[in-house]
Amino acid sequence: MTHQTERIDMQRLPRHIAIIMDGNGRWARSRGNRRTDGHIVGVESVRAVIEAASELGIGYLTLYAFSTENWNRPREEVDMLLNLIVSVLANETEGMKRNNVRLRMIGDIDRLTPEARASLENSMAETSGGTGLQVNLAISYSSRWEITEAMKKLAQLAAEGKIKPEDITEETISSHLTTASIPDPDILIRTGGEQRVSNYLLWQIAYSELYFTDIYWPDFRKEALEQAIIDYQSRERRFGLTSDQIKTAKK
Ligand code: IPE
Ligand code: IPE
Ligand code: MG
Repeated sequence: MTHQTERIDMQRLPRHIAIIMDGNGRWARSRGNRRTDGHIVGVESVRAVIEAASELGIGYLTLYAFSTENWNRPREEVDMLLNLIVSVLANETEGMKRNNVRLRMIGDIDRLTPEARASLENSMAETSGGTGLQVNLAISYSSRWEITEAMKKLAQLAAEGKIKPEDITEETISSHLTTASIPDPDILIRTGGEQRVSNYLLWQIAYSELYFTDIYWPDFRKEALEQAIIDYQSRERRFGLTSDQIKTAKK
């Protein structure tokens, strides 16, 4: 246990951490290497963060690995990234099982090749019994895609007479998103220095604490995650209430 780990209040851990893993390309370019080298080293960060979150007892970790918009990158980079994701997951499936990690995908994985999809589905099925950390990997994901899909499903149910417009509540909308049954993120971390959300979990982060760091993803490891959690714990989440109301409710 590091000195820093001791500063974390284990009673007030975030239940769900979402991360936009950004900065792989710039990390590699700053070393004079190809962008893809950043993605390869970034895998080590994914491993380290999953391990650290798992050890701390975090419930859910949702990682943005490939966005809907990322399909528009050069073909070689898209192929390299997706192949990397699929092969790493296949190799890590046993390890995840051993560590009681449950893997889920959120995103339009129908856009992947049948082989890639089958491999991801196998990793999910193999780890489905895990009772520890749930890792949600966002692949071919964007929030507007997911909200559009949810709206289509609800419109279909209404057209079939199965629901009435007034039956649509925040809960029914939430339950038609890819994150149905997953609590909203308590904290959203973005590495790589940009301060934007890039079409990630727009509905779900309504009350998440936002944490931006200049650290490029390949350099983001256990200590950086702990730092983000410590920062999160210093904040007062008010959910629209006053500070006095929050303090009274805590007593
Ligand atoms: C994040 O790093 C990984 C993905 C978006 C897939 P980038 O590849 O976006 O790296 P930068 O932001 O260009 O440095
Ligand atoms: C967001 O990063 C998507 C992922 C980390 C997978 P991008 O690098 O694609 O975001 P922008 O283009 O800087 O907004
Ligand atoms: Mg980027």
